[in-house]
Amino acid sequence: SGPKPLAGLKAVVTSGPTHEPIDPVRYIANRSSGKQGHAIAAALARLGAEVTLVSGPVTIADPAGVQVLHVERAEEMRDAVIANLPADIAVMVAAVADWRVASGSDQKIKKQPGEAPPPLMLTENPDILKTVGHHAKRPRLVVGFAAETQNVEENGRAKLERKGADLIVANDVSPQTGVMGGDRNRVQLITRDGVEAWPDLSKEDVAERLALWIAMQMAGAPA
Ligand code: C5P
Repeated sequence: SGPKPLAGLKAVVTSGPTHEPIDPVRYIANRSSGKQGHAIAAALARLGAEVTLVSGPVTIADPAGVQVLHVERAEEMRDAVIANLPADIAVMVAAVADWRVASGSDQKIKKQPGEAPPPLMLTENPDILKTVGHHAKRPRLVVGFAAETQNVEENGRAKLERKGADLIVANDVSPQTGVMGGDRNRVQLITRDGVEAWPDLSKEDVAERLALWIAMQMAGAPA
């Protein structure tokens, strides 16, 4: 059990990728295992928060002690998140696809021998973090993630402003780091007050420490 500093507070967490259908059998997706987002949802729940996890398609199990809503597409994820406001805390970890197919096909697109491949027209998906960060029912603490392969700190800072977040957890997902799909993560916490670099940790430990960091913020303690 342990102390429950987040008792009485509501948190909404997104995790996993989104799948944007091309036709009934094909989709566009981002790479995301859901490991980090799911671990954060579980860690917040262990500290006493009432957690709703909005998860895209993942192969890992639903975490214990958390209400899980399963969605496929970015628009469904956005709708589920907004339906769960007001909340005290939002942690948007999902790797949302930036684009969806402008006019998905209801029927499987058939490959025609000798014909050119069909063109894919894309349209922009809603930015869920940005929507939450600027929402009339904005949670007191809004946390985003930033998967970067270069200029991690600089890009994280820009993202903090653009998305209306209080904290961006930036991580370097360059292929050589093994972060993507792996069990470890090395993050930098970017706030308006500065940058805090954490050592290489398991995703479980990142989740645990982030939940404690969030509890400190909610208690009004300086970070
Ligand atoms: O802009 P970028 O995708 O790098 O921002 C990453 C952060 O924004 C993550 O917290 C991610 O969950 C969130 N995001 C979102 N909806 C999108 C794109 C990103 O919530 N459409």
